[in-house]
Amino acid sequence: MQTIRQIATLREAIAAFRAAGESVALVPTMGALHAGHIALIEAAKRPGRRIVASIFVNPRQFGAGEDLTRYPRREATDSQMLTRAGCDVLWAPAVEEMYPQGFATNISVSGVSDGLDGAARPGHFDGVATVVSKLFNQVRPDVALFGEKDFQQLAVIRRLVADLDFGIEIIGVPTQREDDGLALSSRNIYLDEAERARAVALPRALGVAAREIGRGGEVATAMAGAHDMLSAAGFVIDYVALVDAETLTEHPESGRPLRLLAAARLGATRLIDNVAVEMQ
Ligand code: PAJ
Repeated sequence: MQTIRQIATLREAIAAFRAAGESVALVPTMGALHAGHIALIEAAKRPGRRIVASIFVNPRQFGAGEDLTRYPRREATDSQMLTRAGCDVLWAPAVEEMYPQGFATNISVSGVSDGLDGAARPGHFDGVATVVSKLFNQVRPDVALFGEKDFQQLAVIRRLVADLDFGIEIIGVPTQREDDGLALSSRNIYLDEAERARAVALPRALGVAAREIGRGGEVATAMAGAHDMLSAAGFVIDYVALVDAETLTEHPESGRPLRLLAAARLGATRLIDNVAVEMQ
């Protein structure tokens, strides 16, 4: 695997793939890789397709008081994992390469960015949309892969690609989980042992409520049950929301695909998760 830090070098590598008739997949990440990220690499594999993974801890998507400075950085281990997974290029630009002096553009995807995590983290999805637009222009991939773990992010990127005619196929990959159901996340390392044990309440609460709604149960009752389970486990809840799986609007019309999303904090650690609601 080639590690590249300059845009000019990246363009040469991509041009060589194109000259050989190969297609290109992009897997954007912020590093501190785990099996969830590797599932994206695996899902990207196709004969004749090269895989570019990016590692860039994007300052523009972290709010004041968020964990930008303490976000885990371990490129050497990440690089080994990517090599083993069969990734072809690690694109790891410095902040100055991504945002040179004078950088002044902001990409804002309204509507789908506004509620839920967008409301809890003002400016977060602008930061994501801006950096992902840059990554798309730098790599110009045929396909790009994102995890369903960050369900609102995936919806924002689908809207972005449609609206700005990027012409890139966006593939959503199911959430990879620990054996007890906790979604893999680079932020799970912030949890102490007791918090880690209680964190499983997040996927459990979502699962129970989603099944209840899927069976035709009262939505308000199911949501109250999820709140109670999370509070009993010591979570401070940002939101639990039943939304339209495409537009992410709350109070979805009947017959629409549904998704149940939650964000909640255990101590200083903010966790998010979501599940599909399968109507029986
Ligand atoms: P990061 O949190 O590193 O996640 C990179 C990709 O891995 C995202 O598409 C995310 O949804 C996916 N992912 C994380 N945990 C996962 C899991 N348990 N199962 C499946 N996929 C998982 O998301 C970002 O970085 C950034 O916002 C980024 C898109 C790179 C822009 O900076």
